[in-house]
Amino acid sequence: MTEPAAALDRADAEKRMLMRIIEIVSSGTDLEHVLNATIGLVLEAISADACFVHLLKEGEDRLTLRAASEPYGDAVGEVVLHLGEGVAGWVAEHRESVVIVSDKWSDPRYKYIPELGGDRYTSLVSVPLISPAERLIGVVNIHTEQQRIFTSDEISFLEHVCSLVSAAIEHAELFESLAVKEQQLQGFVARTVQAQEDERRRVATEIHDGVTQQLISIWYRLNACERSMPVDPAAARAELDAAKDLVDEALDEARAAIYDLRPATLDDLGLVPALQALASRLFGAEASVAIDTDIHEGMPSHLETALYRIAQESLNNTRKHACAKNVTVAIRRSPDGIFMEIQDDGSGFDLDVYRSARPQTSFGLSGMAERVDLLGGRLDVRSRPSEGTIVEVHVPIDNVRESDDV
Ligand SMILES: Nc1ncnc2c1ncn2[C@@H]1O[C@H](COP(=O)(O)OP(=O)(O)O)[C@@H](O)[C@H]1O
Ligand SMILES: [Mg+2]
Repeated sequence: MTEPAAALDRADAEKRMLMRIIEIVSSGTDLEHVLNATIGLVLEAISADACFVHLLKEGEDRLTLRAASEPYGDAVGEVVLHLGEGVAGWVAEHRESVVIVSDKWSDPRYKYIPELGGDRYTSLVSVPLISPAERLIGVVNIHTEQQRIFTSDEISFLEHVCSLVSAAIEHAELFESLAVKEQQLQGFVARTVQAQEDERRRVATEIHDGVTQQLISIWYRLNACERSMPVDPAAARAELDAAKDLVDEALDEARAAIYDLRPATLDDLGLVPALQALASRLFGAEASVAIDTDIHEGMPSHLETALYRIAQESLNNTRKHACAKNVTVAIRRSPDGIFMEIQDDGSGFDLDVYRSARPQTSFGLSGMAERVDLLGGRLDVRSRPSEGTIVEVHVPIDNVRESDDV
C-alpha cells in the first residue's frame, strides 16, 4: 500500500472507532450493553483475543467480573478480586495501567484464574476505568494468545477509550442501582401490605379467641350470679369474684395486644424509655442492657418509630440467636443526622454464609436494611462467629422525608 493510501485507511479506521465510542457513550442506560460494546470495540481496535471488565461497586473493596468476551460469559459475576489481588487488583489499587508482554507467571502481580483461561494467553494490558469525578469504577484487561508488544499509540488509545466509556458505565451503573432500589421498594411495599393483612388477621384471631371468649364467660358468670343472688348469696358472691378475675385477665390481654400494635411508651415518653421497656421485657435478668443517648429533644415521630422497629428487630435477634450477656444501644446525633448502634457480646454469625444462603423466610435483617434505605440512610452489620454483633444505623436528618411513615 502506498503511504497516502495507508494514511487514508488509518484515518478511516479511526473515524469508525470514534463513531463506535460515541455510540457507546450515548447508548444510554443498559449496563450490559455498554460493557459488551466496549469489549467488542477494544478487541477489534487492538486485535486482541480476550477482554474482561471488572467493576468496583461504590463503597466496596472488591472487583467483580461484570463482562467478558466469549467463551467466558459463565464467569461473569463469579470472579471476584480484592483490591491488590491479581493484575486487575493491582491496577485498581494504583490507578495505573500495566503491560506484561511475556513470562507473566513470574510477575508477582499476576494471579492465575482458571475460569478466565489464564494459560491460553501470553501478553496482557490492564487499564483502569476512572470516572470524570476521579472515582475508580473498574479495570479492563486485554489478553493476546501470541506474544505481542503493545505500541504506545495502542496503550494511549486504550486509556482514552477507557476514560470515555467510564462515564457511560458510571451512568449505566447508577441507573441499574436505581432500578434495583425501585424493585426493592416495590417488594417492601408489597411485604408491608401483606404484613399489615397478617397483623390484622392475628389481631382478629386474638380478639376472637381471647377477649371475646372471656367476655362470654363473664356474661355466664354474671347470669349465674343473678340467678343465685336471691337463693344462695355465697354462691352468687363466688360467681361475682370469678367474673372479676376474668375481667382482670381480659384487661391484661387487651393491653398486651394493644402494646404489641403500638407501644404506648413510644408516644408518651419517647424512644429511649420505650426501648428500655422493650429491653427489660425481652431480656429480664438474662442479660444486662445499657441504653445511652445524647438526644434529649424529640425526633420526628416517623423517625422514632423507624428507629424503634429497627432496634426491636435487632434486640429480638440478639435474644433469639446470640445468648449475649451484655447488650448496648447507643443513639447519638452525628454531624449529618442520627447514629444508632446496637451491640451484643453473643455468639455472632458469619455474614458471608448469611448472604449466600439467606433463607427466603428470613426478613429481619433485610427488612431493617429496607427501612434504613427508605430513610436515605445506611445500615452496617458487623459480626463474626463468637465475636458478637454490631448493628450500625446512620440516618441523615435532612433527608428524612417528613411524610414517610415507615
Ligand atoms: N445478634 C445476632 N447474633 C447472632 N446471630 C445473629 C444476630 N442477628 C442475626 N443473626 C443471624 O442472622 C440470621 C438472619 O437474621 P434475620 O434476618 O433477622 O432472620 P431470623 O431472625 O428470622 O432468623 C439469623 O438467623 C441469625 O443466624
Ligand atoms: Mg430476626
